[in-house]
Amino acid sequence: MRSYGAFLHMLVQLRSERSQYFGTFFFRNRPELELLRTLAGSRAKAAALRIAVLACSNGAEVYSILWTLRRAYPDLEIAVDAIDISKEIVEIAKEGCYSLETPELVDAPIFKYLTDEEMLTMFDREGDRVRIKAWLQEGIDWHVADARDPELANAMGRYDVVVANKFLFHMPPADAEKCLRNIARLVGPGGHLFVSGVDLGVRTKVALDSGWSPVQDLLEETHNGDALVRHDWPWRYWGLEPFTRQKSDWNIRYASVFQLGAAPVRS
Ligand SMILES: C[S@@+](CC[C@H](N)C(=O)[O-])C[C@H]1O[C@@H](n2cnc3c(N)ncnc32)[C@H](O)[C@@H]1O
Repeated sequence: MRSYGAFLHMLVQLRSERSQYFGTFFFRNRPELELLRTLAGSRAKAAALRIAVLACSNGAEVYSILWTLRRAYPDLEIAVDAIDISKEIVEIAKEGCYSLETPELVDAPIFKYLTDEEMLTMFDREGDRVRIKAWLQEGIDWHVADARDPELANAMGRYDVVVANKFLFHMPPADAEKCLRNIARLVGPGGHLFVSGVDLGVRTKVALDSGWSPVQDLLEETHNGDALVRHDWPWRYWGLEPFTRQKSDWNIRYASVFQLGAAPVRS
């Protein structure tokens, strides 16, 4: 069944026209947020944590990250650069005010994964809209920029954590590979790259070529953490293949978090 699925998925990928979407959710991948919380803990004694969130869409991912880290480490100074190629969506993200019924520009039920308690601690209600609370809007700089821009690392500098989720698979594989190599230049020595939503062959190739160390904690949970993309395999080009330890390279193929500039883990 698995081989048949893989064959179908390869055909779907070959025949599909890829295009970008704004689709996103608050708390989209909980194991990924949990892993970020743990990794940030080892840096919590440092003066500050610098994070870049690429392809931030309407800000749901940025605010989910800040909610998680600020509640866990109230004394840690966190500075976030949030970047998207679309000016329109960056304006919505910066405003942080969303319709409860039909979120602006994003064709997705963005609040679907939030509990009532999270809704209350994250937003203030304004009629049929909700607004991000002020403590979550502090420390974010919003930018309109292209992750493919070779000058990006020179302009933005280096980060402790770079998050680049769910946009590389909307690019043709050769472009995604080039873009991923460019994104990696933003990660400071020993920093972490969170990268999901990219063809697994592309990510594995770049990770092996570049000697990235796949983070093994919560590897399977993080891979499976976004139910939507998992369920879309093999029928959609962005569908994510099921996790298996049967593949000899599973510990790198299914990793979506890597430490850069540290000794690579051998399989
Ligand atoms: C599907 S959304 C992903 C949102 C979020 N990262 C997530 O995982 O939920 C893809 C976003 O990538 C942005 N994007 C596409 N190409 C980009 C590029 N080259 N540089 C920066 N952002 C890009 C789109 O504008 C869109 O907002």
